[in-house]
Amino acid sequence: MASENSTVRRLKKYEAEPLVLHSLGDNPRMDFLSPFGPLIGRTRLPEETVAYLNEEADRILTSGQNAEFQIPETICREGHPNSLMDCVARGIQLYVEASEGESLREIQFDVFWMVSQYAGTASPVHFHSGDLSGVAYLKVPEVNARQEQQNYISGRQAGYINFLIGGKQRFARSLISFKPVVGDLYIFPGWLLHGAEPFRGTGERRSLAFNASVP
Ligand SMILES: [Fe+2]
Repeated sequence: MASENSTVRRLKKYEAEPLVLHSLGDNPRMDFLSPFGPLIGRTRLPEETVAYLNEEADRILTSGQNAEFQIPETICREGHPNSLMDCVARGIQLYVEASEGESLREIQFDVFWMVSQYAGTASPVHFHSGDLSGVAYLKVPEVNARQEQQNYISGRQAGYINFLIGGKQRFARSLISFKPVVGDLYIFPGWLLHGAEPFRGTGERRSLAFNASVP
């Protein structure tokens, strides 16, 4: 039987931090907190890791053609201590520490894959398997600023990645969009809905994604 302490620890990870996002007014001031929802972690891949992965991908991909392929484990492990797997593992470690207040015991990587997309291609909204997932950008296209600004619906911009939760709920935020930047690595729960908008422009949006279990 679990001790009372371990039950408290297990439940504690669901409790939000009372962080104040911003304040308005005075006498008295009102603090605003936004305590609910999953964390999205954002970190960076080292330049040499991005360069190595691009070199390997260039051997496999054909310029101008959309493609997706599983990244061989040897490539994921190449370049220790800055291999793709090392970098993602460090990110996951920080993510678990921040979201559950505990250090990570174990990571089981399920799969790493690469996605190469050209103008007009979307990644429709989806979720992943596994506990934690992530996406990192290796190449981004040249997008005309005016086209980039063109909204599909509020908050969704051409070429951006969108994370969505819970539909439209008044007084709650339910959508966030990020512009892909080479080297940016996002880590998020595998169940979190996300998708990428198509872009109009030249060049390739090259990203990699992964699924991992953190028992
Ligand atoms: Fe995805």
